[in-house]
Amino acid sequence: MTTFDEILPIAGEVLAAHHAFVTQLDWLVINRDLNGRVRFIVPEQVEVDDDARQQIETLYQTLATRISPHAHPAESGVLYEASRDEVCSGTANYPLEEFDTVWVVDRLATEGNWAQIAPETEGASRIVFFSIKGGVGRSTALAACAWKLAQLGKRVLVLDLDLESPGLSSSLLPAQRQPMYGITDWLVEDLVDNADGVLDDMVATSELSQDGQIHVVPAHGANAGEYIAKLGRVWMPKALSGTSPEPWSARLRRLLQALEVRLQPDIVLIDSRAGIDEVASSCVTELGANLVLLFALDGSQTWSGYRILFDHWRRARVAEHIRERLQIVAGLVPESSPVAYLSDLREQAYDLFIETVYDEIPSPNDVESTRQSTEGWNFDLAREDAPHMPWAVRWHPGFAALRTLHGRLHQIDDDVIRHVFGDLIGRIMRDVGLDDGYPKVIEGGAF
Ligand SMILES: Nc1ncnc2c1ncn2[C@@H]1O[C@H](COP(=O)(O)OP(=O)(O)OP(=O)(O)O)[C@@H](O)[C@H]1O
Ligand SMILES: [Mg+2]
Repeated sequence: MTTFDEILPIAGEVLAAHHAFVTQLDWLVINRDLNGRVRFIVPEQVEVDDDARQQIETLYQTLATRISPHAHPAESGVLYEASRDEVCSGTANYPLEEFDTVWVVDRLATEGNWAQIAPETEGASRIVFFSIKGGVGRSTALAACAWKLAQLGKRVLVLDLDLESPGLSSSLLPAQRQPMYGITDWLVEDLVDNADGVLDDMVATSELSQDGQIHVVPAHGANAGEYIAKLGRVWMPKALSGTSPEPWSARLRRLLQALEVRLQPDIVLIDSRAGIDEVASSCVTELGANLVLLFALDGSQTWSGYRILFDHWRRARVAEHIRERLQIVAGLVPESSPVAYLSDLREQAYDLFIETVYDEIPSPNDVESTRQSTEGWNFDLAREDAPHMPWAVRWHPGFAALRTLHGRLHQIDDDVIRHVFGDLIGRIMRDVGLDDGYPKVIEGGAF
């Protein structure tokens, strides 16, 4: 029996056995359809060249026999198309390992493919708060950062993109300040060209702001309305006349740009959904984030989840477009033995990075014999500025089981914020160049 995961390794073997023929082709696409069945797609010139056509059909037959049931009948297993760009358009696609002209094209039932990495934005820094598991203190940390940054005079824009489990905005805003609309309303109205009407009424200013401002854009308005019916439509691509539809992540980017133009924030904090979820995929990879905070608790669930994601980036050959923006954050660092806890977490994170997205550094002997460069994107275990070196948020009884963070932040003591979130806030400010006066970062030794 052949299962899905064996398709590409077997395809690699079969194609390698016919290397000379495969490299003659301008391109070859291994198309995995929605049901996980494979077809070859090759340039249309191949169809009119009897010899080449016969060879590609035989090659497909060889592959189909080995990967059945993940193949089509041989007679419909090869398609001929004019352009690879058109075949790849709107899909998750990447070159097959070891081949430069063979592309894997995946047709997915969902849009979130995690491999479309938008370049970093050049305006106000966008910071995404993400975690593989829920309940790691992500939204609370975001709210505390917003509070502190505003207190330091910054204009902060906060977006609640945890659409399926909204709540951040209610922790930053009391009920009477919730705006009329939220992100889901904008995304639904945009489908019928009615979004401008809601833009003015989807932002609230938190009264927690003192010297600066916190603008909060909630997932839904004061009255959630028909939330489920709206949520089921937010992912819709927008039909545009005369051109291909605009994917929902591009619509979300457009919303963010409109908000930034209107509010001119110094920094944008985005609460993403946890897990390998479609909205999270957009937040992490498609919003042009400058910094992606990967919240982690030390435990096998966290690391196996991140490994799936990092492996996917490596396989899809996009790791280098995203890795410099990644940063591990240790959430809820326990009160007892924090140093040992952080040290263990750092080792787990290091193993993850070194096995997936860090460049391999050849050993000095190899360098000697092959004259390879020793350069590469790689950090030692103990390097302070490495992405695997956890920024820490401490567990604190004052934040456990809060009913509303809003109430808590109202009376919070600055020393407590600094104790719990100071490391995270200080490092964020340094990272995005807003470091103008917040006390020095708590270094590892303080734990
Ligand atoms: N630093 C902290 N110390 C102690 N408890 C905390 C801390 N931060 C958050 N909590 C508590 O942990 C729980 C989860 O927090 P939070 O909602 O911020 O997590 P989350 O990662 O955003 O969760 P979700 O994935 O559900 O959105 C809440 O009960 C919160 O009060
Ligand atoms: Mg949350």
